[in-house]
Amino acid sequence: MGLEIFGLKGRVAWITGGSKGLGLQMANALASVGADIVINSRHAAEAEAAAHAIARQHGVRTLGLAADVTNETAINALVERATATLGGIDILINNAGINVRQPTTEMALVDWQRVLDINLTGPFVCSKAVIPAMRARGWGRIIHMSSILGQVGLAGRPPYTASKGGLILLTKTQALELATTGVTVNAICPGPFATEMNRPLLDDPEKYAAFVAKIPMGRWGELPEIDGAAIFLASPAASFITGTTLLVDGGWTAQ
Ligand SMILES: NC(=O)c1ccc[n+]([C@@H]2O[C@H](COP(=O)([O-])OP(=O)(O)OC[C@H]3O[C@@H](n4cnc5c(N)ncnc54)[C@H](OP(=O)(O)O)[C@@H]3O)[C@@H](O)[C@H]2O)c1
Repeated sequence: MGLEIFGLKGRVAWITGGSKGLGLQMANALASVGADIVINSRHAAEAEAAAHAIARQHGVRTLGLAADVTNETAINALVERATATLGGIDILINNAGINVRQPTTEMALVDWQRVLDINLTGPFVCSKAVIPAMRARGWGRIIHMSSILGQVGLAGRPPYTASKGGLILLTKTQALELATTGVTVNAICPGPFATEMNRPLLDDPEKYAAFVAKIPMGRWGELPEIDGAAIFLASPAASFITGTTLLVDGGWTAQ
Protein backbone atom coordinates (compact mmCIF):
# COMPACT_ATOMS: atom_id res chain seq x y z
CA MET A 1 0.00 0.00 0.00
CA GLY A 2 1.51 3.34 -1.05
CA LEU A 3 0.97 6.96 -0.10
CA GLU A 4 -2.15 7.09 -2.29
CA ILE A 5 -4.18 6.18 0.82
CA PHE A 6 -3.59 9.82 1.85
CA GLY A 7 -4.43 11.23 -1.60
CA LEU A 8 -7.48 13.40 -2.29
CA LYS A 9 -7.37 13.81 -6.06
CA GLY A 10 -10.91 14.12 -7.45
CA ARG A 11 -12.33 15.18 -4.07
CA VAL A 12 -13.80 18.60 -3.25
CA ALA A 13 -13.01 19.95 0.22
CA TRP A 14 -14.81 22.90 1.84
CA ILE A 15 -12.96 24.59 4.68
CA THR A 16 -15.04 27.16 6.55
CA GLY A 17 -13.02 30.16 7.71
CA GLY A 18 -10.35 29.14 5.21
CA SER A 19 -9.14 32.68 4.47
CA LYS A 20 -6.45 32.69 7.17
CA GLY A 21 -4.92 30.92 10.15
CA LEU A 22 -5.41 27.18 10.59
CA GLY A 23 -8.20 27.10 7.99
CA LEU A 24 -5.95 28.49 5.24
CA GLN A 25 -3.18 26.16 6.38
CA MET A 26 -5.47 23.10 6.11
CA ALA A 27 -6.90 24.28 2.76
CA ASN A 28 -3.34 24.37 1.37
CA ALA A 29 -2.59 20.98 2.92
CA LEU A 30 -5.62 19.30 1.30
CA ALA A 31 -4.85 21.03 -2.03
CA SER A 32 -1.27 19.72 -1.82
CA VAL A 33 -2.63 16.15 -1.98
CA GLY A 34 -4.97 16.95 -4.87
CA ALA A 35 -8.29 18.19 -3.47
CA ASP A 36 -10.24 21.01 -5.11
CA ILE A 37 -10.95 23.65 -2.49
CA VAL A 38 -13.91 25.77 -1.41
CA ILE A 39 -13.31 28.37 1.28
CA ASN A 40 -15.58 30.92 2.86
CA SER A 41 -15.31 33.68 5.43
CA ARG A 42 -17.34 36.79 6.19
CA HIS A 43 -15.13 38.89 3.87
CA ALA A 44 -15.40 38.20 0.14
CA ALA A 45 -12.11 39.80 -0.91
CA GLU A 46 -10.05 37.77 1.59
CA ALA A 47 -11.79 34.50 0.75
CA GLU A 48 -11.34 35.10 -2.99
CA ALA A 49 -7.68 36.08 -2.63
CA ALA A 50 -6.92 32.99 -0.54
CA ALA A 51 -8.71 30.74 -3.06
CA HIS A 52 -6.76 32.24 -5.98
CA ALA A 53 -3.45 31.79 -4.15
CA ILE A 54 -4.24 28.11 -3.46
CA ALA A 55 -5.18 27.52 -7.11
CA ARG A 56 -1.94 29.13 -8.28
CA GLN A 57 0.24 27.20 -5.84
CA HIS A 58 -1.27 23.74 -6.19
CA GLY A 59 -2.93 23.72 -9.62
CA VAL A 60 -6.33 22.69 -8.24
CA ARG A 61 -9.75 24.24 -8.81
CA THR A 62 -10.86 26.61 -6.05
CA LEU A 63 -13.80 28.76 -5.07
CA GLY A 64 -13.64 31.56 -2.46
CA LEU A 65 -16.90 33.07 -1.25
CA ALA A 66 -18.33 35.28 1.47
CA ALA A 67 -20.80 33.38 3.65
CA ASP A 68 -21.38 33.61 7.38
CA VAL A 69 -21.59 30.11 8.88
CA THR A 70 -24.52 31.20 11.06
CA ASN A 71 -26.62 32.19 8.04
CA GLU A 72 -28.38 29.05 6.79
CA THR A 73 -29.62 30.71 3.58
CA ALA A 74 -26.12 31.90 2.66
CA ILE A 75 -24.59 28.50 3.50
CA ASN A 76 -27.15 26.60 1.42
CA ALA A 77 -26.47 29.00 -1.48
CA LEU A 78 -22.72 28.38 -1.11
CA VAL A 79 -23.22 24.60 -1.25
CA GLU A 80 -25.40 24.97 -4.38
CA ARG A 81 -22.82 27.20 -6.05
CA ALA A 82 -19.91 24.89 -5.13
CA THR A 83 -21.82 21.86 -6.36
CA ALA A 84 -22.63 23.57 -9.67
CA THR A 85 -19.05 24.79 -10.14
CA LEU A 86 -16.86 21.99 -8.76
CA GLY A 87 -19.17 19.03 -8.18
CA GLY A 88 -20.47 17.91 -4.82
CA ILE A 89 -18.62 18.59 -1.57
CA ASP A 90 -16.87 15.44 -0.34
CA ILE A 91 -15.03 16.87 2.67
CA LEU A 92 -16.17 19.56 5.10
CA ILE A 93 -13.84 21.03 7.70
CA ASN A 94 -15.88 23.10 10.15
CA ASN A 95 -13.05 25.43 11.05
CA ALA A 96 -14.56 28.96 11.31
CA GLY A 97 -14.46 30.08 14.91
CA ILE A 98 -14.00 33.01 17.26
CA ASN A 99 -13.04 33.54 20.89
CA VAL A 100 -14.16 36.09 23.48
CA ARG A 101 -12.10 35.95 26.66
CA GLN A 102 -13.93 37.05 29.83
CA PRO A 103 -14.92 35.25 33.05
CA THR A 104 -18.59 34.34 33.44
CA THR A 105 -19.57 37.36 35.53
CA GLU A 106 -18.04 39.81 33.05
CA MET A 107 -19.23 38.05 29.88
CA ALA A 108 -22.02 39.90 28.09
CA LEU A 109 -24.87 37.63 27.01
CA VAL A 110 -24.50 38.89 23.46
CA ASP A 111 -20.85 37.72 23.40
CA TRP A 112 -21.74 34.32 24.87
CA GLN A 113 -24.35 33.91 22.14
CA ARG A 114 -22.04 35.12 19.35
CA VAL A 115 -19.38 32.53 20.26
CA LEU A 116 -21.92 29.70 20.55
CA ASP A 117 -23.56 30.75 17.26
CA ILE A 118 -20.34 30.76 15.23
CA ASN A 119 -18.43 27.93 16.95
CA LEU A 120 -21.24 25.42 17.54
CA THR A 121 -24.35 26.38 15.55
CA GLY A 122 -22.19 27.18 12.48
CA PRO A 123 -20.86 23.59 12.24
CA PHE A 124 -24.43 22.29 12.67
CA VAL A 125 -25.68 24.51 9.81
CA CYS A 126 -22.77 23.60 7.49
CA SER A 127 -22.99 19.86 8.25
CA LYS A 128 -26.72 19.87 7.64
CA ALA A 129 -26.12 21.50 4.26
CA VAL A 130 -23.71 18.82 2.99
CA ILE A 131 -24.85 15.57 4.62
CA PRO A 132 -27.70 14.68 2.22
CA ALA A 133 -25.46 14.72 -0.86
CA MET A 134 -22.59 12.94 0.94
CA ARG A 135 -25.01 10.25 2.09
CA ALA A 136 -26.41 9.90 -1.44
CA ARG A 137 -22.89 9.43 -2.85
CA GLY A 138 -21.94 7.00 -0.07
CA TRP A 139 -18.72 8.85 0.81
CA GLY A 140 -17.96 11.88 2.93
CA ARG A 141 -15.73 13.35 5.60
CA ILE A 142 -16.83 15.88 8.20
CA ILE A 143 -14.12 17.25 10.47
CA HIS A 144 -14.99 19.62 13.31
CA MET A 145 -12.27 21.93 14.62
CA SER A 146 -12.68 21.59 18.36
CA SER A 147 -9.80 22.43 20.72
CA ILE A 148 -7.91 21.27 23.76
CA LEU A 149 -10.48 23.58 25.38
CA GLY A 150 -13.17 21.13 24.27
CA GLN A 151 -11.44 18.56 26.47
CA VAL A 152 -10.36 20.55 29.52
CA GLY A 153 -11.50 23.84 31.01
CA LEU A 154 -9.68 27.16 31.22
CA ALA A 155 -10.73 30.05 33.47
CA GLY A 156 -11.96 33.05 31.48
CA ARG A 157 -13.22 31.09 28.44
CA PRO A 158 -16.86 30.13 29.22
CA PRO A 159 -18.47 30.19 25.76
CA TYR A 160 -15.34 29.01 23.93
CA THR A 161 -14.94 25.89 26.10
CA ALA A 162 -18.69 25.22 26.04
CA SER A 163 -18.78 25.50 22.24
CA LYS A 164 -15.70 23.31 21.71
CA GLY A 165 -16.89 20.70 24.22
CA GLY A 166 -20.26 20.73 22.46
CA LEU A 167 -18.52 20.06 19.15
CA ILE A 168 -16.99 16.86 20.53
CA LEU A 169 -20.42 15.46 21.38
CA LEU A 170 -21.84 16.74 18.07
CA THR A 171 -19.01 14.76 16.44
CA LYS A 172 -20.02 11.56 18.24
CA THR A 173 -23.73 12.02 17.56
CA GLN A 174 -23.28 12.74 13.86
CA ALA A 175 -20.84 9.82 13.60
CA LEU A 176 -23.58 7.53 14.95
CA GLU A 177 -26.21 9.05 12.66
CA LEU A 178 -24.01 8.42 9.61
CA ALA A 179 -22.12 5.27 10.65
CA THR A 180 -23.52 3.04 7.90
CA THR A 181 -23.43 5.62 5.10
CA GLY A 182 -19.73 5.96 4.19
CA VAL A 183 -19.64 9.40 5.81
CA THR A 184 -17.28 9.73 8.79
CA VAL A 185 -17.35 12.50 11.38
CA ASN A 186 -14.31 13.32 13.51
CA ALA A 187 -12.81 16.25 15.41
CA ILE A 188 -9.37 17.81 15.64
CA CYS A 189 -8.37 19.33 18.98
CA PRO A 190 -5.42 21.68 18.51
CA GLY A 191 -3.37 23.25 21.26
CA PRO A 192 -2.10 26.83 20.81
CA PHE A 193 -0.99 27.96 17.33
CA ALA A 194 0.13 31.47 16.37
CA THR A 195 -2.90 32.86 14.49
CA GLU A 196 -4.88 36.11 14.58
CA MET A 197 -7.27 34.52 17.07
CA ASN A 198 -4.43 34.33 19.58
CA ARG A 199 -3.14 37.88 18.98
CA PRO A 200 -3.91 38.91 22.61
CA LEU A 201 -1.70 36.05 23.87
CA LEU A 202 1.04 36.53 21.26
CA ASP A 203 1.30 40.25 22.07
CA ASP A 204 1.60 39.69 25.82
CA PRO A 205 4.90 37.99 26.80
CA GLU A 206 3.54 36.91 30.20
CA LYS A 207 0.43 35.29 28.77
CA TYR A 208 2.46 33.70 25.97
CA ALA A 209 4.91 32.21 28.49
CA ALA A 210 2.07 30.99 30.71
CA PHE A 211 0.75 28.97 27.77
CA VAL A 212 4.20 27.59 26.94
CA ALA A 213 4.46 26.46 30.57
CA LYS A 214 1.29 24.36 30.13
CA ILE A 215 2.63 22.51 27.08
CA PRO A 216 4.83 19.47 27.84
CA MET A 217 6.71 19.94 24.54
CA GLY A 218 7.59 23.44 25.78
CA ARG A 219 6.45 25.37 22.71
CA TRP A 220 3.42 26.45 20.66
CA GLY A 221 2.44 24.49 17.54
CA GLU A 222 3.87 25.50 14.15
CA LEU A 223 1.13 26.01 11.52
CA PRO A 224 2.28 23.11 9.26
CA GLU A 225 1.91 20.77 12.25
CA ILE A 226 -1.87 20.76 11.67
CA ASP A 227 -1.48 19.42 8.10
CA GLY A 228 -1.07 15.74 8.91
CA ALA A 229 -4.19 15.55 11.09
CA ALA A 230 -6.35 17.25 8.44
CA ILE A 231 -5.03 15.16 5.54
CA PHE A 232 -5.28 11.92 7.53
CA LEU A 233 -8.87 12.37 8.72
CA ALA A 234 -9.99 13.54 5.24
CA SER A 235 -8.26 10.69 3.43
CA PRO A 236 -9.16 7.12 2.50
CA ALA A 237 -6.64 6.05 5.18
CA ALA A 238 -9.16 7.03 7.90
CA SER A 239 -12.09 5.04 6.47
CA PHE A 240 -12.76 3.04 9.70
CA ILE A 241 -12.36 6.04 12.03
CA THR A 242 -15.49 7.88 13.09
CA GLY A 243 -16.66 9.70 16.20
CA THR A 244 -13.15 10.27 17.48
CA THR A 245 -11.01 13.29 18.32
CA LEU A 246 -7.40 13.76 17.28
CA LEU A 247 -5.36 15.89 19.68
CA VAL A 248 -2.62 18.05 18.14
CA ASP A 249 -1.48 19.71 21.33
CA GLY A 250 2.15 18.98 22.24
CA GLY A 251 0.85 16.96 25.18
CA TRP A 252 -1.31 19.66 26.89
CA THR A 253 -4.16 17.24 27.65
CA ALA A 254 -1.90 14.27 28.51
CA GLN A 255 -1.25 15.65 32.00
N1 LIG B 1 -5.22 29.00 16.84
C1 LIG B 1 -5.31 28.13 17.84
O1 LIG B 1 -4.43 28.08 18.69
C2 LIG B 1 -6.48 27.20 17.94
C3 LIG B 1 -6.44 26.20 18.93
C4 LIG B 1 -7.51 25.33 19.02
C5 LIG B 1 -8.57 25.43 18.16
N2 LIG B 1 -8.58 26.41 17.22
C6 LIG B 1 -9.75 26.50 16.33
O2 LIG B 1 -9.32 26.46 14.99
C7 LIG B 1 -10.20 27.24 14.19
C8 LIG B 1 -9.40 28.28 13.41
O3 LIG B 1 -8.76 29.14 14.34
P1 LIG B 1 -7.66 30.21 13.91
O4 LIG B 1 -6.79 30.39 15.08
O5 LIG B 1 -7.10 29.86 12.59
O6 LIG B 1 -8.57 31.52 13.78
P2 LIG B 1 -8.40 32.84 12.88
O7 LIG B 1 -7.01 32.98 12.40
O8 LIG B 1 -9.02 33.93 13.68
O9 LIG B 1 -9.32 32.51 11.59
C9 LIG B 1 -10.69 32.30 11.76
C10 LIG B 1 -11.33 32.16 10.40
O10 LIG B 1 -12.75 32.00 10.57
C11 LIG B 1 -13.43 32.99 9.79
N3 LIG B 1 -14.70 33.28 10.44
C12 LIG B 1 -14.92 33.76 11.68
N4 LIG B 1 -16.25 33.89 11.92
C13 LIG B 1 -16.87 33.45 10.80
C14 LIG B 1 -18.23 33.31 10.43
N5 LIG B 1 -19.21 33.67 11.26
N6 LIG B 1 -18.52 32.82 9.21
C15 LIG B 1 -17.54 32.46 8.33
N7 LIG B 1 -16.24 32.57 8.64
C16 LIG B 1 -15.90 33.06 9.85
C17 LIG B 1 -12.45 34.16 9.73
O11 LIG B 1 -12.68 35.04 8.66
P3 LIG B 1 -13.58 36.39 8.81
O12 LIG B 1 -13.26 36.98 10.15
O13 LIG B 1 -13.15 37.21 7.65
O14 LIG B 1 -15.00 35.93 8.71
C18 LIG B 1 -11.15 33.39 9.52
O15 LIG B 1 -11.05 32.97 8.17
C19 LIG B 1 -11.22 27.87 15.15
O16 LIG B 1 -12.37 27.08 15.19
C20 LIG B 1 -10.51 27.80 16.48
O17 LIG B 1 -11.37 27.80 17.57
C21 LIG B 1 -7.57 27.30 17.09
